[in-house]
Amino acid sequence: MKIVIKKDYVELSKFAALEVKNILEDNPNCTLGLATGSTPLGLYKELIKLYNLGEINFSSVTTFNLDEYRGLNEEDEQSYKYFMNDNLFNHINIDKNNTFIPNGIAEDVERECENYEKLIGEKGGIDLQVLGIGMNGHIGFNEPNQELYLNTHLETLTEETLNSNSIFFTNKEKMPTEALTMGIGSIMKAKKIILLISGKNKAEVVKKLVSGKITTDFPASILQVHNDCTVILDEEAAALLNK
Ligand code: GLP
Repeated sequence: MKIVIKKDYVELSKFAALEVKNILEDNPNCTLGLATGSTPLGLYKELIKLYNLGEINFSSVTTFNLDEYRGLNEEDEQSYKYFMNDNLFNHINIDKNNTFIPNGIAEDVERECENYEKLIGEKGGIDLQVLGIGMNGHIGFNEPNQELYLNTHLETLTEETLNSNSIFFTNKEKMPTEALTMGIGSIMKAKKIILLISGKNKAEVVKKLVSGKITTDFPASILQVHNDCTVILDEEAAALLNK
């Protein structure tokens, strides 16, 4: 696992955008794995800027998002489908038919998950996976547990995640308690991974991430054995490293 420390969130986002740009330059038909949450927002803003400057072309790119809340459809402003359209896809020249997100309102969830996993394989796998991290070490929505799932599946969200993510919901009662998420195996199969972590509230999380131990209590710890994973931090998130 490689660690890159940037001065602040803007620099972190610019660095991440260049990583994406490089992949697209090498392979205009590449497949990106994308994340939601507040951390990748700066990256998406930078990508839109690069697109407007004519420096990046998404016309042949395919994307797979990590996860989606169970029960929310794409018109729902809290759905990740809405989030991705609003924060990225509506502003770049991507073909929306090539943007995939698990269907949160699928009647047969098991089948939806199986098909999602299969589709990623059919498209040749993920070339670059963008990740954020939850306060409890979750990646996608793979929550700490005794066992972790390899493939896309339905996950019950922990109290901690419900609390952290409730800031996005005006009515907490309406927040889904389950989500469809790529599994740990789906994520680890990505050829390259960039994990973005920003802010002093994530400094403890970073410390655990690089602990040198792997535990299902902290799912992101598995990334330590990926052979091309770069963790991009800002100085605040890196504050407790080597302490
Ligand atoms: C959600 C997403 C994760 C994301 C996490 C952290 O739970 N499912 O993929 O990494 O939020 O979000 P933030 O970047 O807002 O801290």
